[in-house]
Amino acid sequence: MADTHKPILLSGIQPSGHLCIGNYLGALKNWVNLQESHDSIFLVVDMHALTVRQNPAELRQRCLSYVAQYIACGIDPEKSTIVIQSHVPQHAELMWILSTLTYMGELNRMTQFKDKSKKHAANINAGLFTYPILMASDILLYQADLVPVGADQKQHLELARDLAIRFNSTYSDTFVVPEPCIPKTGARIMSLQEPEKKMSKSDDNLNNLIAILDSADIVKRKIKRAVTDSGSEVKMDKSRPGISNLVQLYSLITDLSVKEVESQYSGKMYSDFKTDLGNVIAEFLEPIQKKYNEISKDKDYLESVLAKGAENAFYRGRKTLSKVYRKVGFIQPAR
Ligand code: TRP
Repeated sequence: MADTHKPILLSGIQPSGHLCIGNYLGALKNWVNLQESHDSIFLVVDMHALTVRQNPAELRQRCLSYVAQYIACGIDPEKSTIVIQSHVPQHAELMWILSTLTYMGELNRMTQFKDKSKKHAANINAGLFTYPILMASDILLYQADLVPVGADQKQHLELARDLAIRFNSTYSDTFVVPEPCIPKTGARIMSLQEPEKKMSKSDDNLNNLIAILDSADIVKRKIKRAVTDSGSEVKMDKSRPGISNLVQLYSLITDLSVKEVESQYSGKMYSDFKTDLGNVIAEFLEPIQKKYNEISKDKDYLESVLAKGAENAFYRGRKTLSKVYRKVGFIQPAR
């Protein structure tokens, strides 16, 4: 599986909330395309998820569900490595070393920390603060060349690069300095009710998002209720974020250009367009959900995918970590 000739790609999603169409169009779709040309590792970052209070039984169930959804969306476990972060202890071990190279000031600047501190004011734990170091560890552990992430992760990725460079210059050349791969803003799907903000899988208001596992009825109802702006033209327009977002969605789901969508609906009403969009999304999700249901039933299969992923990742993680331990001056344990 680990083809050493291909560049290494790494990305991950936090198992919180409901994996949504925004995650598919912004991340998973891209992963599926890139897995052909890259030695890819896709993480379900359950350790990151703990920075927000979780219900243990739900977290357990959600991690497995995310793995099944990765596969249902087209990640092929024969080509890519799918890993649950907590299965590989080296993530946490490397994090410690990296944390001794990270300055408080660097973490204080992180906008996601500031945002999350506001959102979870009653639980501003140290993990929320050091979260970017764990993410850097995820990336550097596997010597990733390419890291596809959303624009909101740019600052975190910058830290991963800085830490790689800092470690390499403090000790000696050890880490690959990863390249970010950030999709253009056009691919960003916005919230259905509040189209000024990004569609988020962790949104408390489920009407803001279309989950990958939403039934056809729910999809149609959510699209019908999506806010559109005053006006009547089905058209991309900066001053009308609601309809623009829906046009964007239609275009990305159908692979039609925005211009084609606009001309197809010129002179038609919002309601016609929304009915069609609901149908198009429901049809798009149907085969994914079918595959998801099959995979979810087959616990042995899921377990074998995860066992293989963990074994591969463990091997690679151990290789990097033992190099790191040697470079910083730790003694190898006697055998
Ligand atoms: N922090 C990322 C997010 O919230 C998830 C993540 C954790 C990640 N580790 C990663 C993404 C490593 C890319 C690479 O989206």
